[in-house]
Amino acid sequence: MLTRTALQRAAAAPRITLTGKQAARAASAWSQVPQGPPDAILGITEAFKKDSNPKKINLGVGAYRDDAGKPYVLPSVQQAEQTVVQKNLDKEYAGITGVPDFTKAAALLAYGPDSAPLKENRICITQSISGTGALRIGGAFLQRFYPGAKAIYIPTPSWANHKAVFTDSGLEVKQYRYYNKDTIGLDFDGMVEDIKKMPKGSIVLLHACAHNPTGVDPTEAQWKAISDAVKEGKHYPFFDMAYQGFASGDANKDAFALRYFLKEGHLPCLAQSFAKNMGLYGERVGAFSIVTASEEEKARVDSQLKILVRPLYSNPPVHGARIASTILNDASLNRQWLGEVKGMADRIIQMRALLKENLEKLGSKHQWNHITDQIGMFAYTGLSAEQMTKLAEEHSVYATKDGRISVAGITTENVGRLAEAIYKVTG
Ligand code: LMR
Repeated sequence: MLTRTALQRAAAAPRITLTGKQAARAASAWSQVPQGPPDAILGITEAFKKDSNPKKINLGVGAYRDDAGKPYVLPSVQQAEQTVVQKNLDKEYAGITGVPDFTKAAALLAYGPDSAPLKENRICITQSISGTGALRIGGAFLQRFYPGAKAIYIPTPSWANHKAVFTDSGLEVKQYRYYNKDTIGLDFDGMVEDIKKMPKGSIVLLHACAHNPTGVDPTEAQWKAISDAVKEGKHYPFFDMAYQGFASGDANKDAFALRYFLKEGHLPCLAQSFAKNMGLYGERVGAFSIVTASEEEKARVDSQLKILVRPLYSNPPVHGARIASTILNDASLNRQWLGEVKGMADRIIQMRALLKENLEKLGSKHQWNHITDQIGMFAYTGLSAEQMTKLAEEHSVYATKDGRISVAGITTENVGRLAEAIYKVTG
């Protein structure tokens, strides 16, 4: 108990008053949370936005732009969206696995009409929060049920988010050789050798087409040898197909690897995204599917996918899936859409050629053939992290530090300035 004099002393002492903010800070549970780095890809957009140079160029995130550098809403998407709106549909919850008309059509697009497992009703599919969500569901399912080691092998390099997605799903992430920086091409022998060396029954992640970030894909003959190596090791193939149609402009051609593996008797799983090929980035439309051995097995796996998804996000959003479904299920709109995908792929191919041409015109003493040899949305330039930093700091050209540039961000107007910037930083 305080004595009278102690109380008097306390009353006379200068008051230290904590402001509301300081009091909250002192009591915060988060005082030990460390500052994290910006995202390797999405963080580039933040840096780009802060730059006041009117001629700045953003080649960071893989998002298609038209030749005016503007985001592109596909006319088929606009039309499908109008159809959806005019239907005045309700906003009830979808089932846990999403909009059935969409998932059925997504499976058909990926596996093709001749697919035996599709015909035999052996493919489980669930709608997902785009490709990332599909990978995450896949990672979580494998973590829970895969009978072998809970490890997944991804290529070196791979999409910057793969490692985090699978680590956060509870899988151990390992790597296999993929890219040869001396040839700026595929390290085919290294890849096959590594697949053969993996412990029997390993999970192997394969980019189905338009490898991100390198733009380097195996040839069809190489895919056949990769399938043999995967089969020999009794490995489990997990396909990530985020760019169907975008690589070659032909959705069937881009599905070659997946469909070939199926013909060879593999029972893979697949992550699909409609962000790039339909330009539905922010709508988050994707699907995760598993090829099973029988209809009865499919029913069991289906039930577990539902049990997995329900506590994650309950059920997926419907609007984007309805748009995609409208396009995929209407023969004429589907044709129109495929033409538009080809248009995007062709513009990218044209920009690759223009960039190479401009670099050569400037008299660059480096070889730039890889820019036109690579495929899909990205060019893996071979520039070092230091050169990429210089591109941003001295030329306001923003792209990821690994030397990847999103060719979709190049236009006939900015290609000259871009070539000059690359020419200057590469000497
Ligand atoms: C990319 O690689 O830039 C895209 O897949 C977008 C993303 O989410 O990283």
